[in-house]
Amino acid sequence: MQVGIDKIGFYTPNKYVDMIDLANARNQDPNKFLIGIGQEKMTVADETQDAVSMGINATLDFVDEIDKDKVGLMIFGTESSVDQSKSASLFVKTALNLRPEVRTFEVKEACFGLTAALMMATDFVRLHPEQTAIVIGSDIARYGLNTGGEVTQGAGSISMLVKADPSILALNEGHSAYSDDINDFWRPNNSKTAMVDGKYSTQVYLDFFTKTFEDYKKQKNLKTEDFDALIYHLPFTKMGLKANRLAIADESEVVSEKLSKTFEASKKLSVNVGNVYTASLYLSLLSLLQNGELAPNDLIGLFSYGSGAMAEFFTGNVVEGFKQQLHPDKVQARLDARTKLTIPEYETIFTQSLADPVEGKELSSDEQAGVWYFAGVKNGVRLYKQK
Ligand code: COA
Repeated sequence: MQVGIDKIGFYTPNKYVDMIDLANARNQDPNKFLIGIGQEKMTVADETQDAVSMGINATLDFVDEIDKDKVGLMIFGTESSVDQSKSASLFVKTALNLRPEVRTFEVKEACFGLTAALMMATDFVRLHPEQTAIVIGSDIARYGLNTGGEVTQGAGSISMLVKADPSILALNEGHSAYSDDINDFWRPNNSKTAMVDGKYSTQVYLDFFTKTFEDYKKQKNLKTEDFDALIYHLPFTKMGLKANRLAIADESEVVSEKLSKTFEASKKLSVNVGNVYTASLYLSLLSLLQNGELAPNDLIGLFSYGSGAMAEFFTGNVVEGFKQQLHPDKVQARLDARTKLTIPEYETIFTQSLADPVEGKELSSDEQAGVWYFAGVKNGVRLYKQK
């Protein structure tokens, strides 16, 4: 029996900053951001969008197409949690009317959270093939105004349905994992912005990629040329490009060209959305599925990395007819619906979104009809509403 990804939902909030404007405002050469970092736009979340609302909105993309009574597990991976105790997934469960029998909770390991969720969900469905699982990754990447990491911010969510006989990607059993207790990126409880040693993080990411990729190939007796695509966690697309260059360094021209082309297809969405932490690898997957020239049964290698640090390499095979499950026009419409912010507007919205919500103050959203948003706090309880 095959188990894997059957549906993919995506949401990103309705505002963005253009990297050329940001470079000009920060006295940087725009090509540093466009080429050196590899980003063109970044989504900005205002105070009415958080990990919960974005996770609901991503799942809304497919929830009406599935049998809700079969959902036995829902896991929410995030680094941008809204509560120290209650799981973000419980708000999602209520908003989407899932049955109370669902087992649901939140997981955290920086950007690895959604992969942790996907692995647990896959094992769950292998044990309970008559049930399905929803896994959500939802994050706002905040490093702060005028920081080195500012250009690698973003916001968004990916939600996926995991089931037996999946329609998009059949995940293969086995994986290669690698972890170490290091300090490359972290966010203490008293900080709303991340602490990061970006250059060290890049080194560790590349090191863990080499370790897990080589180990996986050895375990499965595979060669690099056997992969039809390699995709990566993309906190900024240059990071994945560096890993992809390592992967193809000793390969023939044909293999290098093939894997460079698929990498280009996989980065298109991230270039325009920015860093979505837990969801980043799966935004690459969505981008590859939409923009790559994939054939049924093509082998995709996925590299997941969460700072701190935890990495995993695993694979899946593309399922025949997968295109029918995708909605590229809807994804594009969502990106096109974003309003471009001036840098002063972005700075005001960013600063506002860092402030704690005021008790009893109701927030209104400028999103389109149907979108869920954070409506404020009443008696200490966070409220979510649909436009
Ligand atoms: N044209 C083209 N490229 C240019 C350029 C120009 N005018 N100016 C600089 N560059 C290139 C640099 O050569 C460098 O390329 P390289 O990485 O291939 O060497 C790149 O742009 C970045 O320049 P650098 O000076 O290293 O940038 P920085 O000191 O501002 O730091 C990050 C960049 C990515 C390290 C920083 O933004 C960061 O820490 N971000 C957070 C990263 C993160 O989230 N890590 C953890 C999650 S996994």
